[in-house]
Amino acid sequence: MLSRLVTRAVRRYLVGPDQQWTFAPPPQGWTPPRVERTSLYLHVPFCRHCCPYCPYTKIPYDETLVEPYTRAAIAEVDWWADAIGPAEITSIYIGGGTPTLALGSVASVLMRVRERFRLTGGICIETNPADVDDDTVRRLHDASVALVSLGVQSFHPKHLARLGRRYKPPIAERALALLALGGFASVNVDIMFALPGQPASDVTADLSRAAELGADQLTTYPLFTFPYSSVGEYLRLTALRMPDLGVRRAHYRAISAWCAEHGFERVSVWGFKFGAVPRYSSVTRNGYIGVGPGAGSQLPDGFVLNTFDLNSWIQAACAGRTTIALRMPFAAQMSGWWWLYWRFYDTRIPLGDLDAALGEDASKARWWLRAIERAGLAIRNGGYLELTEPGAFWLHLAQNYFALNYVNTLWSEARRESWPQVVAI
Ligand SMILES: C[S@@+](CC[C@H](N)C(=O)[O-])C[C@H]1O[C@@H](n2cnc3c(N)ncnc32)[C@H](O)[C@@H]1O
Repeated sequence: MLSRLVTRAVRRYLVGPDQQWTFAPPPQGWTPPRVERTSLYLHVPFCRHCCPYCPYTKIPYDETLVEPYTRAAIAEVDWWADAIGPAEITSIYIGGGTPTLALGSVASVLMRVRERFRLTGGICIETNPADVDDDTVRRLHDASVALVSLGVQSFHPKHLARLGRRYKPPIAERALALLALGGFASVNVDIMFALPGQPASDVTADLSRAAELGADQLTTYPLFTFPYSSVGEYLRLTALRMPDLGVRRAHYRAISAWCAEHGFERVSVWGFKFGAVPRYSSVTRNGYIGVGPGAGSQLPDGFVLNTFDLNSWIQAACAGRTTIALRMPFAAQMSGWWWLYWRFYDTRIPLGDLDAALGEDASKARWWLRAIERAGLAIRNGGYLELTEPGAFWLHLAQNYFALNYVNTLWSEARRESWPQVVAI
């Protein structure tokens, strides 16, 4: 309760009293503003097996749903193109779910994106170790996918079993080796840490194994226990205890030290990359349109969220109606602060861009950046303010707090109701 009051006071002080922290259905007749340039997120909601900890919108794979899903996604691409114009698409991120379960569908949607927009950037996709074979690699190339992310989570059988992952470590190793030799511009591996009963040495062993098998980017996530996902119940039933803050801090230090020692440079709070490969990331883009059930879009005038329910989404998209269930308009200063929030996530703030992004709030932001620097949480490097390792850790805690509170409030309601009314965050 106290933390809620503090968050409200801080956001009101930073962004100002004009910003309403409320999502509501878009008003009748509302259409998104036209944009010159943006990114695109495609959400594919199918998984062969749904993991108990996963908070994302997904349903068990059902072949009969793939065709209506594809039709709706293509209709939604058309809806966006009619609304925002034939914009330049500077990158595409395909997440899920497990998008590689419906690669035919992904290829058709991408074709429509190329017809209706001007695609200039690379395509990233997520996949699952149990879903990668030679055919997957070939079809990813056919669809011109350049960057692939494999959700390994752990190479330890004990942790995989605890997470409810159904494959054994050799399957993950084989999948990674196939992708690493598959000729992609980059292969990222997701590894989870701060799992119940996991020592830091297991996490660094996972990073070593991933690097040995050819991953050139590593994304590390502490296990988030979203109250609405079934992991809370699962932990209670299995009498497992989540690690405390000290363990989390120790794991984060071990990950940072391992990456520094092995030439993996930090590119975000959670992510590290080796060498000059293009950066793999999902959320740090400044402006994107979302296609698929539960997909979000960051537009110049606000953030919007599609209905989470697959059938409602299919019906709306195929009828040419909007699939957007909720919208939070941005007050004048919000876009700038939203931009700065994601630059913290990048762990590098380009100081020269502050004025252009924040306008009259730039001096307020500079004051806070100086305080962060004085506290030893960041250092200046050229034209950037870069977070130190403790800075990145404390930001990661704030990020976790944000994820659990804001995202949980919004997503719980969006999962309960296909077309919710007002959601205050
Ligand atoms: C959308 S998921 C896609 C996973 C992919 N379908 C698979 O099965 O491997 C992307 C990544 O989010 C991370 N993730 C999902 N739920 C999480 C949670 N509760 N806590 C931390 N990380 C999570 C996992 O590392 C996962 O690889």
